[in-house]
Amino acid sequence: MIHRHAIGMLPKKPHTVLRDEAGKLMMEVCVTREGFHGPFSILYYRKPPTDEFAVERLNLPGFCPFTFVDEQPLHRRHVRTQDMKPGGDFLTGRRTLLANDDLQVGICKPVDPPKRFFSNGDGDELYFVKEGQGHVESNYGVLPFRKYDYVLIPKSTPYRIHLDGHRGVLLVFEGRPYLGIPSEYRNAYGQITDYAPFSHRDFRVPEALLKFDEKKHGPPPYPVVVKQADTLTVHQYQHFPHDVVGWDGAIYPVAFNILDYQPKTGLVHLPPTIHTTFAGRGFVVCSFVPRLVDYHEQSIPCPYGHASVDMDEILYYVDGNFTSRRGIESESISLHPQGVPHGPHPGTYERSIGTKRTEELAVMCDTYKPLRLTTDAAAVEDRDYHMSWVKKEAPDAWTSK
Ligand SMILES: [Fe+2]
Repeated sequence: MIHRHAIGMLPKKPHTVLRDEAGKLMMEVCVTREGFHGPFSILYYRKPPTDEFAVERLNLPGFCPFTFVDEQPLHRRHVRTQDMKPGGDFLTGRRTLLANDDLQVGICKPVDPPKRFFSNGDGDELYFVKEGQGHVESNYGVLPFRKYDYVLIPKSTPYRIHLDGHRGVLLVFEGRPYLGIPSEYRNAYGQITDYAPFSHRDFRVPEALLKFDEKKHGPPPYPVVVKQADTLTVHQYQHFPHDVVGWDGAIYPVAFNILDYQPKTGLVHLPPTIHTTFAGRGFVVCSFVPRLVDYHEQSIPCPYGHASVDMDEILYYVDGNFTSRRGIESESISLHPQGVPHGPHPGTYERSIGTKRTEELAVMCDTYKPLRLTTDAAAVEDRDYHMSWVKKEAPDAWTSK
């Protein structure tokens, strides 16, 4: 939920008659969170989305279900997602790499146009678009996105992702059951505060309602893949089930570009908490963007070593000055688990003194519950990473984490 938005035809009051141009009564559907106490949206459908004529099980191995590794000895890890092969569409190409009860983290590198719509009934989803641009089709309309956007898809939203040229690299978080902007960034009136690292203006909303187009959506049946309790089912409709003439409310997909994040810099090094962008139950997602660094004349901009003893930390490297860090490249994911301290590579701590800027671009996620690797992550793991702190030669760059 970001703020209330409205698009298309609406009756003056909820739960009253709305007819289309031909006089046909529209079907009102209320999407509600936390029973009827949380945020909600009200949508008006040309045809009720409640008459699927068939329901079938579906397995997409690597995404749902995925398989955890049998054993995971405690040490720092490096998952080379850049070594994962592209394939499939936004749904069939998705692979889960790390997970706990609150969160699943995956990668998708689509090469096919999207086929079925997908609705995740287990939680909100947050995509980070590492490569590519395109648009999301959903029952809330059409939402364009571009490189380096976060795209937040609310729980149980039927959607599919089109990538221009059918090419992209997507990092995806599934927050169970919730993922949104932190409550501390809002005042008591629901407005995003002026000291938050983003404003209402930074969030982009669906631009137009989704119109049924037989050329684009094809002949019936119209399948929707639903994920609930980590099980997939395909629900088949004889009519296009996302034809909405209008909606209003606080639930709908939004896009936010990471370069619109407003970083903070302190006299001395500030903890990564100041980079928090999104939060869910048991985890936060943080944005590290190019910025000026600390300005005390004796400050050490490179982060101190630390033992954040209650949290696992993963970092997805996007772009910037981590490139000479040994073995870490764009699309690398590092996992620094709770239980053992971590810190900068040898040499980087001292070399950072006097630095004025960092050009790093990265997405971090901290979780309270330990993350477990899946077999898809283990298949591209750099197994020497945790020993890279003891080697002699020092890399040239430092990173914030
Ligand atoms: Fe850290």
